[in-house]
Order: sequence, then C-alpha cells, then structure tokens
Amino acid sequence: MLQVKDLWVTYKSRRSAGVAAVRGVQFDIPDNTFVGLVGESGCGKSTLGFAIAGLLDPKRNNVQGEVMLDGQDLRKLPSEQMRALRWSKLSVVLQGGMNAFNPVLKIKHQFMDVMREHSNMSKAEMTERIAELLSAVDLDPSVMESYPHELSGGMKQRAAIALSLVLKPRLVILDEPTTALDAVVQRSIVTMLSDLQRELGFSVLFVSHDLGLVLEVAQRVMVMYAGQIVEDKPASMLMEQAEHPYTQALLGCYANPRAEHVSLSGIPGSPPDLRAVLRGCPFAPRCAKKMDICAVETPRLVKREEGSVLCHLYAPKEVTVR
Ligand SMILES: Nc1ncnc2c1ncn2[C@@H]1O[C@H](COP(=O)(O)OP(=O)(O)OP(=O)(O)O)[C@@H](O)[C@H]1O
Ligand SMILES: [Mg+2]
Repeated sequence: MLQVKDLWVTYKSRRSAGVAAVRGVQFDIPDNTFVGLVGESGCGKSTLGFAIAGLLDPKRNNVQGEVMLDGQDLRKLPSEQMRALRWSKLSVVLQGGMNAFNPVLKIKHQFMDVMREHSNMSKAEMTERIAELLSAVDLDPSVMESYPHELSGGMKQRAAIALSLVLKPRLVILDEPTTALDAVVQRSIVTMLSDLQRELGFSVLFVSHDLGLVLEVAQRVMVMYAGQIVEDKPASMLMEQAEHPYTQALLGCYANPRAEHVSLSGIPGSPPDLRAVLRGCPFAPRCAKKMDICAVETPRLVKREEGSVLCHLYAPKEVTVR
C-alpha cells in the first residue's frame, strides 16, 4: 500500500550544508499492518513521518525520493489534492497531539469541520459517526459536547486518535502519541489502538522511543539510526534474532524488552551530527562488532529472508572472477 523509495530529507540552513535528517530510506507498509518505528531522539523519525504525510515546507526542506500510496506518488501531487487525501487516505496524529484541538471549539465541531470539508454527510449522520468513533476509542459519546480543556490528557489523546479515523484512512501515522502520558494510560491507549487497527483493518506507522511497547503491539518494527533504517523485521523475529549491532545493543540494554517501560539509553557514545557528511557506517564509532570496512564504506541494504538489515556484517561476499 505505501512504498517509500530512497527518501532523503535535508533541512536547509544558511550557515551549513543543512541537516540531512533522513538519508536514503526505503521500506513498504502493506495493508492492515501495524508497523513500529523506533530510534534515539534526533534520529529522524518525526522528519520521516512528516515527509510521508507531505507536511514539510518545501521552502525549508529539500525532499528527494518517492512516497507511493496505492500507486500514486504523493510527492508529485498538487498541494490541494494532497490536502484532500490527508484525511481520507492518510492521517496523522502528531507528537504532542494532545494539543491538536482548538481550545475554543467543542470536540464535535472539530470532527464536523473535517467531515464537512470532505463529505456530504448530514448533521445527524455526522453526530452518529462521531458517537461511533468516540465509543471505538473507549470514550463516552457525550465527550463530543466537551471543550478540549474539559478532557484529561489521555482522553484528549483518545479523541485525537478518533479524529484521525474520521474519514476511514488506509494509513494512520502516529508520532509519539502517548509520551506525555503516564505508563498505564499510555499502554491502555496503545492496546486500544492496536485492537482497533485489527478490527478496522487500516495500517499504522507508530513512531516511538519505547522499544518494549513497540515490540508488544507492532507486527513489524523498523529501527532507525542517524537518518537510516538499519533493520526492518517482524517484531517477533527482531526480538529473537536481531541482526544489526545497534538493535542488538538496544535489546541488550534491558533484561526484558517487554518490561513495563524501556527507554533507549545506555549504549556508550552518542549518535553522529546529522549536519555532517557521514563516511562509512554512522554506527561504527559505537559498534561492538565494527570491522575495518565500516569506517570507510557505507553499508548497503541487505535483504534477509524476512525484512532487511543495513550492515557490512551481512553483505554478500564479492565473487571475483579471474
Ligand atoms: N525544523 C528543523 N530545522 C532544522 N533541523 C531540524 C528541524 N527539525 C528537526 N531537525 C533536525 O533533524 C534531525 C531529526 O529530527 P527529528 O525531529 O526528525 O528526530 P526524532 O527522531 O523525531 O527525535 P525525537 O525522538 O526527539 O522526537 C535532528 O538532528 C534535528 O535536530
Ligand atoms: Mg520526533
């Protein structure tokens, strides 16, 4: 359904060559699949989500590559068509999405604004649909009569998820939708989301720092480091047989990756400066398994039986024909 090919995003800068926050990313997301995207702060997760959703201002960024949704290259669509598509095929719940609502409008009016712009539903039909969506995210339908400040953080987040589903999109991108919430509320929202995803059959790209949480709910996990996806595997396989030394280090940081809360710290060193041109493998300076080649040659994506890994350890050996 979604195919991302060789995507690059550089934030323009007057003083330097810019920040290359996404560097040649490639992956696809099939229908009806829950995909998690994890990585340390600043590795480019949000930028990747924004680029897919077409939310980056072309004056401030340079985006290269393809983002195909159902065979249509979103990057080539005029902005009007992209806007229309943004709720009906692809929707986004942003980092800090709890503040996504306009404080002076009742919740129901925020839903109706979207519905009115994209459909011809009557007021009664809209009210019915809003009630249905609020129930689906375990909120009482009476919430529609509330103003955002009358809801708790968790309730607002549930409402934001309901709003993202209002026009039955095929893909929902959620960027750290629950990080401002406590662990128990966080978990219940993410579990609700994954139940809903299975029931309604849309796909999710779930961006999070929390590898433990992602491993629990996602069918597939993509691990991002310094603007690249370094490993992409079914969740169960990633947990049992992670191949990239970075993923292994992440998993090795915790006795139990399914523990209540897992944060991505504890690997010695720090990620590279994304303003720089990176030579070789960007993880090499922190890698426990680095080889001579890693400092000089950029690794290529290696296809595995299921998924892929970006690491010299798994590169097919060159056959020299004399
Ligand atoms: N508007 C911007 N202008 C310039 N650089 C930016 C901008 N937004 C992000 N960056 C840089 O791009 C890189 C990737 O940032 P991004 O926000 O995508 O990371 P992230 O993985 O989402 O981090 P976090 O987990 O903290 O949300 C970082 O180096 C960041 O400093
Ligand atoms: Mg982010």
